[in-house]
Amino acid sequence: MKIIKVVGARPNFPKMAPLIEEAKKHPLVESLLVHTGQHYDEAMSQSFFDDFRLPKPDIHLGVGSDTHAVQTANVMIAFEKICLEHRPDLVIVVGDVNSTVACALVAAKMQIKVAHVEAGLRSYDRTMPEEINRLITDQLSDYLFTHSMEANDNLRREGLDANKIHFVGNIMIDTLLKHLATARQSNILQRLQLEEKKFSLLTLHRPSNVDNLDALRGILLAVRDLAERIKIVFPMHPRTSQKIDKFGLGDFIKHRNIVNTEPLGYFEFLCLMANAKLVLTDSGGIQEETTILGIPCLTLRNNTERPITVEMGTNQVIGNQPEKIIQSANQIFDLSKYEPKRPALWDGRTAERIYKILLKK
Ligand code: UD1
Repeated sequence: MKIIKVVGARPNFPKMAPLIEEAKKHPLVESLLVHTGQHYDEAMSQSFFDDFRLPKPDIHLGVGSDTHAVQTANVMIAFEKICLEHRPDLVIVVGDVNSTVACALVAAKMQIKVAHVEAGLRSYDRTMPEEINRLITDQLSDYLFTHSMEANDNLRREGLDANKIHFVGNIMIDTLLKHLATARQSNILQRLQLEEKKFSLLTLHRPSNVDNLDALRGILLAVRDLAERIKIVFPMHPRTSQKIDKFGLGDFIKHRNIVNTEPLGYFEFLCLMANAKLVLTDSGGIQEETTILGIPCLTLRNNTERPITVEMGTNQVIGNQPEKIIQSANQIFDLSKYEPKRPALWDGRTAERIYKILLKK
């Protein structure tokens, strides 16, 4: 069996790493790693290869940044050539970024089987580009590997064949559990002069929060307010720092208690999450990572494709209005007791289950 595994953007790397590791146990499976180049900064890509000790990609498509149509099309043009040359039996894609849908579309049209890891997530909000990527990728996939029963339900509601749907657990949590002990030894707390549970962590990168001046200003005003009470660490996605510069909002994040940093490496960021009093984010993956770590998370969006994180008790979806952010954060700071639950099969063995199913078929 010849498999091509595709990665492209930052959230793909922790999802593919366990599958690359698992493949080593199956020498009859020939595996190629393709990096589309959607993300290319050292901090957004190479640092993850170093942290996870991933092999260098066999093929790098080097597509880089552009509009959605151009980026997606460039991945498709380049990836079709790879599929023609290597004729894989299966293409594995993860998550919901533009590279995911582009490669799934190429493979499906060439009658190559597609496996989608993290299938079935739905925000039911088509203003999010990822929602469109998820819908199309799932429709085209032959193997739909899900991380929760809610995802199975979403796929069945869309008429997808139940035989294609496999509840295997959360692949990203394989990576988190594998590296948590190492991450806890990171010196990032000392480096940023932080104390355990005495700081909050903030990440922002969704276009709905950072591409709109009013939305971004509102969030940063709320953050300034909270910074009067607690230190806030803010590792900035390149899109976010560009927008802060463009909108002239740099002064909003100059505060003795706001610690601005470049995007951080996996271990450093995991160490910060594990020690934070609160995480504020618009990311999808961080909602799940905080669930496993048992850290309160406020999601600065109007919806989530990961409702299980809310059910488990760690996550609240609160939108991006400043008053609501301040009020919700203060409620968490005042909480004394906190008992989150853990979702089924978020146990570090998802890659193993996926390979078992692939090899059986
Ligand atoms: C992408 C994914 C999003 C994911 C996020 C994680 C899509 C539609 N979006 O969003 O789901 O949560 O990655 O980061 O696929 N840039 C750099 N260096 C890089 C990469 C990007 O400077 O290495 C800048 C460029 O100005 C670029 C912008 O960030 O135009 C946006 O990058 P892009 O890949 O289009 O989307 P993300 O916002 O990163």
